[in-house]
Amino acid sequence: MTYETDQSPIVPRLFGTAFSERPAAAYDELRAVGPVAWGQIAEGVYVLVVTNHAAARELLTDPEYTRDPGAWEALAHGGVPASLALMYAGGLQHTDGPDHERLRRAVDDCLAAVDLHAVRRTVQRHARTLIDAFAHRGHADLMAEYADPVSLRTLTDLLGCPPDAADRIRAHIRSVIAAEQDAAEASAELAHVLREVIAAKKYRPGADVTSWMLAHPALLSDREVQCQLASVILLGAAPTAAWIGATLHTLLTERAYASELVGGAVTIRQAMNETLSSRSPVANASVHYARFPKVLHGVHIPVGVPVLVSHAATGLDPDRPGRNASRDRSHLAWSAGAHRCPAQILAATIAETAIETVVDAVWDLTTPTPAIAGRPGPFQQCPVHVGVLFPPVPPVPPHAPGRPPENHRFSPMADAAKR
Ligand code: HEM
Repeated sequence: MTYETDQSPIVPRLFGTAFSERPAAAYDELRAVGPVAWGQIAEGVYVLVVTNHAAARELLTDPEYTRDPGAWEALAHGGVPASLALMYAGGLQHTDGPDHERLRRAVDDCLAAVDLHAVRRTVQRHARTLIDAFAHRGHADLMAEYADPVSLRTLTDLLGCPPDAADRIRAHIRSVIAAEQDAAEASAELAHVLREVIAAKKYRPGADVTSWMLAHPALLSDREVQCQLASVILLGAAPTAAWIGATLHTLLTERAYASELVGGAVTIRQAMNETLSSRSPVANASVHYARFPKVLHGVHIPVGVPVLVSHAATGLDPDRPGRNASRDRSHLAWSAGAHRCPAQILAATIAETAIETVVDAVWDLTTPTPAIAGRPGPFQQCPVHVGVLFPPVPPVPPHAPGRPPENHRFSPMADAAKR
């Protein structure tokens, strides 16, 4: 199958080292071709990429496109590596119409039942454990040693995963998100762990998202619950970690913020919002297919071809309204339309608490690496490392005031009942 990809002699690559190091250069190349242009998300896997903010909004809210990956011709003909198909053709974000509405209602209701005060306490507890492990050292990688584990541990607690299941999930998700060679095996392992968690919750339900989903009036099958839990983990943990890591990097490297870091919550929220606009954690997602040949902002859209929104490129679109406004809210980091992220407040609670806790705990943070290289893969935009230096902090005794007991477990309902 060949497509008319020859508008540009070289089709920009949204993968590989050059892309990870300078994603904005690939987005500029795409933008130079037009509001929608051909890109590659793996060697020889061609997609149309929307870099124009207005065109992306139009696509995201147009019911004449489907999310059903059955419409992807290259996928049907075996032309898409399994590692890539997992992030671009599976899960809640790739269902449509009434099927999506039913599953989405269950996800929305279960996420809405989460007690955000309890989430803050859970994040603080994990954050303190993680900080204690590196504070005495005087240096750390806040991506691997902090942002990644604090997001994932909080999410697996929310799902009610016991610690061993949480550890196994942690071991598998990175290669799925980065679309690495072993992503298919890692995804099978993730599914296996989630089936175990579901079986345990059916036997003994708890105050957690998995139990609520099993009991939801939409009557999801076990397989449907498993897929929604996988979506929550895959679409939740990595973007939240990326948001934390990139915001910490901004706070440490941009003079306007670095001098005000002690200024607290306002500064942190401002930097978090700037990250959403200029370094969207979900980089290229929201796959659509035309049900019949269409035109999007003057560009012919054939059937059978994925049309992706570049959330990252639309954030950088020079024509985006309000781009440089102090309260910039027009970015599409959360997407828009029926598939917009259902967990914006939850993710913001996790990210803000995690950032505040480390900034409060470790003073005089500096970073020796102002340049920011990204993790591989087209899906995410996440720093590889956020290396920091700081004056070593002496260890705090385990039962110091203000520290929650070690056996405190996340339990939204139990915590709500205590209030
Ligand atoms: C607690 C953390 C999070 C959870 C549980 C979560 C969960 C989800 C789920 C289940 C979806 C699928 C929605 C649907 O198709 O109806 C989704 C979509 C999305 N999320 Fe989140 N998310 C989280 C954090 C984030 C963060 C931090 C970002 C980026 C700032 C983000 C950006 C997106 C985007 C862009 C989509 C749309 C994807 C698409 O249309 O293909 N999410 N999220």
